[in-house]
Amino acid sequence: MKTKKAICAILPFLFLSASILAQDDTQWNTKADSILSLMTLDEKVGQLNMLTGNWEATGPVLTDINKAESLKQGRIGSMLNVKGSKNTRELQSLALQSRLGIPVLFGQDVIHGYKTIFPIPLAQAASFDPEVIGRAARVSARESAVSGIHWVFSPMLDVSRDPRWGRVMEGPGEDPFLASAIAKAMIEGYQTPFDDGLSVMACAKHFAAYSGAIGGRDYNTVDVSLQTLHNLYLPPFKVAAECGIASFMSAFNEINGIPATAHPYIYNLLYKDWNFDGIVVSDWGAIREMVVHGYSKDRKQATEQAFNTGITIDMESNCYSNYLKELVEEGRVTEATLDRAVKQVLIWKMKLGLFDDPYKYCDEKREGEEILSAASRETARDVARKSIILLENKNAILPIVNMPRDIAVIGSLANSKRDMDGNWVSLSNESIAVTLLEALKQRYPASNITFIAGYSTSADDRSGFGEAIEAARKADLTLIALGETWNMSGEARSKGDINIPSIQQELATEIYEVTPHAVTLIMGGRPTIFNELSEKSPAILYCWWLGTEAGNAILDVVTGEYNPSARVPMSFPKHLGQIPVYYNHKNTGRPPVESDRNYSGRYIDMDHKPRYPFGFGLSYSEFEYTNFQTEVKPGRLVVSLNLTNTGLYDGAELVQVYVRKLWGPSTRPVKELKGFRQVFLKKGTSQSVQIEIPFSDLSYYEADGWSDAEGDYKVFIGRNATDIIFEAPLTLSGCKGL
Ligand code: NOJ
Repeated sequence: MKTKKAICAILPFLFLSASILAQDDTQWNTKADSILSLMTLDEKVGQLNMLTGNWEATGPVLTDINKAESLKQGRIGSMLNVKGSKNTRELQSLALQSRLGIPVLFGQDVIHGYKTIFPIPLAQAASFDPEVIGRAARVSARESAVSGIHWVFSPMLDVSRDPRWGRVMEGPGEDPFLASAIAKAMIEGYQTPFDDGLSVMACAKHFAAYSGAIGGRDYNTVDVSLQTLHNLYLPPFKVAAECGIASFMSAFNEINGIPATAHPYIYNLLYKDWNFDGIVVSDWGAIREMVVHGYSKDRKQATEQAFNTGITIDMESNCYSNYLKELVEEGRVTEATLDRAVKQVLIWKMKLGLFDDPYKYCDEKREGEEILSAASRETARDVARKSIILLENKNAILPIVNMPRDIAVIGSLANSKRDMDGNWVSLSNESIAVTLLEALKQRYPASNITFIAGYSTSADDRSGFGEAIEAARKADLTLIALGETWNMSGEARSKGDINIPSIQQELATEIYEVTPHAVTLIMGGRPTIFNELSEKSPAILYCWWLGTEAGNAILDVVTGEYNPSARVPMSFPKHLGQIPVYYNHKNTGRPPVESDRNYSGRYIDMDHKPRYPFGFGLSYSEFEYTNFQTEVKPGRLVVSLNLTNTGLYDGAELVQVYVRKLWGPSTRPVKELKGFRQVFLKKGTSQSVQIEIPFSDLSYYEADGWSDAEGDYKVFIGRNATDIIFEAPLTLSGCKGL
């Protein structure tokens, strides 16, 4: 029986050590061990229990628990969905009333911003700019940290090939190399430097292969080969572990018959091969759902399986709190394993400084200063304009350098604040996003701006068509906003049909008939299909859901104040029947040949190629590539070229390097992105560009395990994955084991 006296004796040790963050792992361990030695089994289990606050739920809440009482009894170690310094402070004070007064951790789905909302992650991926993505994560970390949040459930690293899956909006797109670069940038943004009171724990999710859901239907079965698992889904997670990420989150899906939440293969990799020593939190209710999957006999067995496989914290299943103690007493879970898990939680609480000052992150004054600061909004605007893709610009109608006086703005999405934020915003029920209409009015007060909603996003109502077409006919410029409302992509928002609604396409095409001065702005959370618009629209900007500064950023691009530099991060299909369509496919023995109706791997009723391939995106400028060279240096391949901006505008060009390994023990994709860089050039200037590819980036999980870089390749420089400017053969030898 632990006594009050023992606890009091340790209090100064726990709370008064000023330089706790400077201490090394041994000291964290020693301190955690001293706390552990005071804890009862119930208290240990409590540290592994995470529940949602009462403010909002991001999943099905099944139990009616008195959370205040549980906090006071030390039965809750972490909470999610508690927002703001005031609320977190209030709940923290309850946790401090527990016997040992161990502070509680607050986690939150800060997916693309806390209060300053950034473009959705898929849009950020389109920037192909890890630096700017890292800056966005930093702002999110700061805003979260001053609001009492210690832990963000981001980055979401599910590489995805199926745009029907609603959660593509949260992820990095279809390429594992790009996803890995994004992972690194975001984790650094959230976690570095960790001891400044403005950093948060990051969480790599969803581990693993969640995006492989059959048919793109959320939560669906995943049946995946070891090669695809290692080469497509796992790379960004491995990078996350290497970057010292604080935590991982399990995935809802099964992988080849075993729920990811208790999949020995992936947790062996995580803990043994990647040496991860942080926290793994289950996804919401995922432990109890192992029974529904038909894997666990009952919740008690699910608890045993999940815990023994490596899930540290149970989010909203109440499985650990109900069964873990019993399992330890029965010897089915060892107390040593339990202690290891609890220790991780305690150590991260120490690293955050919560044992020094449990209220360190609840500071209403700082919250007031930090949230939505001018600097944060400027970053949001910068990220947003770097995320907009110029898909069409026939006759170079963009940019509109001299804004005309009569402007028609058509489409309800041009004036909908909430839709600009997109899905997965935790605090934006009352959005403050700047819409396109607001931005226009503010920037051009003397213009004559007519706004007509034109279509309805919820009904097949054409009654606004006439007025919209008339306004477009009279205007010198028409901006048409089309696409998805905020709730059409996201968790459990899979779609069988990702075409832009036909009512919207009809209106736009009728407008193109009355004016050549029409710019189409497509908003949404995923690649969508809009073939007729692609063919007929004078110009198309893909604007995703851009967040707080959406309207300003769109206008920056429309006017040429920012020359678009974003590229397609996930192939845009032409037809639903092509899905999944992605650039890094294999060649097969009979690759598709459009002209060969017999015995070629084509469709007989449609093209097999995407509408816009991976890496595609236009600029207002033109860029010339010359002097392509490859050179093998110790441990790496160096690709160099000369780039010249030959166009009329300053701007950035995305240099993309792909490789193809021609043969080997395992077939390889026809192209694999292995290097990219956004290069900014003033008009008329040139720069030599070098991209280094470490040999380790060329290794691939083949039929018999990881290969090294040895072999015969082609190296490509492309404007995108299909438009190749240079290619050269390359043989790498003498690099075994590198
Ligand atoms: C379920 C989602 O899959 C996950 O991404 C999220 O972090 C949790 N709910 C918590 O809201």
